[in-house]
Amino acid sequence: MAKKRTVFGCQQCGHQAPRWLGRCPECGEWDSLVEESFTPPSATAKLTGRDAKPQALSSIAPITEPRLRCGIGELDRVLGGGLVSGSAVLVGGDPGIGKSTLLLQACQGFSLQGLRTLYVTGEESLMQVKLRSERLGVCAEGLLVLAETSADAIAAHIQAVKPDFAVVDSIQMVFKPDVGSAPGSVAQVRDSSAQLVQLAKATGVPIALIGHVTKQGAIAGPRILEHMVDTVLYFEGDRFHSYRLLRAVKNRFGPTNEIGVFEMRASGLAEVSDLAGVFVSHRRGAVSGSAVVPTLEGTRVLLVEVQALVARANFGTPERKVSGLDRNRVAMLLAVLDKRAELLLAGHDVFVNVVGGVRVVEPAADLAAAIAIASSFTDRPVPAELVAIGEIGLAGEVRGVSQLEARLHQAAKLGWKRAIVPRDSARTLSRRFEGLELIFVDALAEALEAATG
Ligand code: TYD
Ligand code: MG
Repeated sequence: MAKKRTVFGCQQCGHQAPRWLGRCPECGEWDSLVEESFTPPSATAKLTGRDAKPQALSSIAPITEPRLRCGIGELDRVLGGGLVSGSAVLVGGDPGIGKSTLLLQACQGFSLQGLRTLYVTGEESLMQVKLRSERLGVCAEGLLVLAETSADAIAAHIQAVKPDFAVVDSIQMVFKPDVGSAPGSVAQVRDSSAQLVQLAKATGVPIALIGHVTKQGAIAGPRILEHMVDTVLYFEGDRFHSYRLLRAVKNRFGPTNEIGVFEMRASGLAEVSDLAGVFVSHRRGAVSGSAVVPTLEGTRVLLVEVQALVARANFGTPERKVSGLDRNRVAMLLAVLDKRAELLLAGHDVFVNVVGGVRVVEPAADLAAAIAIASSFTDRPVPAELVAIGEIGLAGEVRGVSQLEARLHQAAKLGWKRAIVPRDSARTLSRRFEGLELIFVDALAEALEAATG
């Protein structure tokens, strides 16, 4: 039996240190290390306990079971066509984004098909769940609710009820008394999740765990949580806007990076299947400081507007505020604009924002961001019917992007007239796009000239 020892786990990233430190050496967060006990795995694995034997891969039957579909098309699609029995799904997102709402609606969907679902609430009282369900018009027969935070009790109830689907809202509230640290700590989250994931595997009940996300965008608690579950879905967007994006960042049973789009309405989350104007502000003609990029999210193309405002800084170090894009990426773009396009941005505050609270991580949005910044700086508007696609390199070159054809197809379909695209990717195009003029560029300066010249 391995000996227990004490370690200090970071609440932010899950890093484990042998002694207490004021600052986590991994993620740099201050005062995030908390004492917990840890049983090191033994160095030599022993063939005891389980009697699993190696077997021929060809002899294993493929999954033939139909997937469980809750009937919310966008959610079923992000899951890869529905839930697989015995799978564990982690749904992460900022507080107030709509995680509880989405899963309660999913439970309703299953229950309406005559399936049994169990919604375990650790954060809200049964009364609060009832109030939400009334807003949503959820009153299906087979939907059971339970207010419980003990991992053992939740497991026992799931085993007793044997629902077709169970939700635990949220994993940060669940605790095991023998772990010895507070609920929400790394050790608690890790051990409780492990128990619930094993339960899903053992009983075949698909379990969804709701998890809060930290400022940095990681699910609070150890990273290990993401490794333990089969599927990780992030619910993102701006809680002050009505659109929400559900993104599969990991899926053992389906494609990753698939997205679902929802709109938060007074009566709950509604699916959005027409993405035409979702992440583009309604403009009246050309304005400076704005550019649109067709970004690729899984198999879908979203037209997303990047806005920038460049204003003379009054004193001290100029401000750089970025939301929806990677801050470091924008810093790089500012340096490239300064050096390669002779835009003297030092001494100016720069604000960059993506419309609708969506996050764009792919470098294909570089060009649109650079154009938006340059356009605001020079106060020259970008034509309203123009989109720009391309990654920008340190030498100021515009690099090719993946799946250019799919992006252009969508832009043309939604009525955009001109597209600035990397010449690099020109050879990947096998056809023309009705009504869409293509402007091929090699360098950033060339693209800026085409967009704002
Ligand atoms: P909630 O699902 O509680 O978020 P989470 O579980 O991620 O913390 O959703 C909270 C927000 O959604 C809250 O600000 C109210 C809003 N909302 C609606 O606009 N319409 C609705 O029908 C419901 C249930 C919530
Ligand atoms: Mg909630």
